[in-house]
Amino acid sequence: MSIKAFLFDLDGVIVDTAIYHYQAWKRLANELGFDISEAFNERLKGVSRMESLDLILEHGGLTLPDEKKVELAAQKNAWYLELVSRMTPEDILPGVASFFAQVRKAGLKTALGSVSKNAGTILDRIGMSEAFDAVIDGNKISKGKPDPEVFTKGAAELGFSPTECVVFEDAVAGVEAGKRGGMFVVGLGSPEILAQADLVAPSLEALTVEEVLAKAS
Ligand code: BG6
Ligand code: MG
Repeated sequence: MSIKAFLFDLDGVIVDTAIYHYQAWKRLANELGFDISEAFNERLKGVSRMESLDLILEHGGLTLPDEKKVELAAQKNAWYLELVSRMTPEDILPGVASFFAQVRKAGLKTALGSVSKNAGTILDRIGMSEAFDAVIDGNKISKGKPDPEVFTKGAAELGFSPTECVVFEDAVAGVEAGKRGGMFVVGLGSPEILAQADLVAPSLEALTVEEVLAKAS
């Protein structure tokens, strides 16, 4: 089966919003009287807002009523949006523009597969709202990563089967989602952390489309 489409995660793949999520969650944890480390933050990557909050509260040994949790999640999101509002096209990660030019030249289709409900806002801020043939975000799915829904929906919207798609992910949960969806998965980050991926590179800058197609086909 030949590869027809590339499905991209947003946070940590196209832009480094992963650091803003971390900063906002850390601020919230600190206000609640505990801290979260960068290593712990790996577990939050690709995980939905409410599920992330549950993991953080569990880490801090806190059990809170649902109304309070909704309030805390809204507070974190407000801090996060404050950080995101300062983003510009200059925040697009190195290598993304050149990689997308190669993707187009190769005639491949693209989809965004992000569990973030803020994906549309971020794409606007960085001038990439028109860059994808399909956009699946947190508003279109009912299950976050590691469930494969965000990627299987992307493939379906483009009209391809999972085996015709390659997923690009920086998160453990996202790599698992792509594998469970039946796709070839490129992990962007550390090979130790993203051990489940079919291919690992430090970032899109370190890859060419030709190389990915050769490995995935
Ligand atoms: C993912 C991030 O893309 O979106 C997670 O990797 C984040 O860290 C999730 O929790 C949900 O994002 P949002 O913007 O809907 O709170
Ligand atoms: Mg990510």
